[in-house]
Amino acid sequence: MTQKPLPNRAEKELAELAEYAAVDPTGFRRALSSFATGVAVVTTLDSSGAKVGITINSFSSVSLDPPLVLWSIAEDSMSYGVFTAAEHFAVHVLSRQQQEFSSRFAQSACDKFGGLDCNAGIGGVPILGDFAACFECSTEHVYEGGDHKIIVGRVHRFEDRASDPLVLYRSRFLTEQEAI
Ligand SMILES: Cc1cc2nc3c(=O)[nH]c(=O)nc-3n(C[C@H](O)[C@H](O)[C@H](O)COP(=O)(O)O)c2cc1C
Repeated sequence: MTQKPLPNRAEKELAELAEYAAVDPTGFRRALSSFATGVAVVTTLDSSGAKVGITINSFSSVSLDPPLVLWSIAEDSMSYGVFTAAEHFAVHVLSRQQQEFSSRFAQSACDKFGGLDCNAGIGGVPILGDFAACFECSTEHVYEGGDHKIIVGRVHRFEDRASDPLVLYRSRFLTEQEAI
């Protein structure tokens, strides 16, 4: 009986690649949603000085010294060009009461700032009146990240109001009872 030859290294690598390509996007997304996150609104100004904002949950701390944070922006978002070119931005961590802000800034092509009073932060970026915590940043790096770009910011100023955060878990916001 002839024995089947063992796969060589190249064949093994090809087989592994085929396995990676088989990652099911729906299941992948669902599995990622088991990692509970906060929700934030990132703001900046475009080149004409108009306010731009987007809801995100990809925010993460990176480094304490120097103080760095990151988030990622999808290439198909309308504000992609603005944020990847922006010199400054502000990350507003939303409080539990700010579910409406999450929906408002997750829309495209609308006046997301209508009726909101904002202050001007570092670089003139809009600072919302309400948040649990706010980090004012300059853009330190913009990295490739598949269909997203990873934006690393250096924090120059922050405010922590210590209010309860809005928590996203398995694609829904946790209720007050669940979040405790
Ligand atoms: C809870 C939540 C989290 C989100 N997280 C991100 C994120 O981390 N990065 C991203 O690019 N879009 C994220 N989005 C989607 C954007 O908010 C959405 O695509 C928005 O319409 C983009 O606005 P724009 O098209 O004006 O840029 C998230 C949306 C929600 C509701």
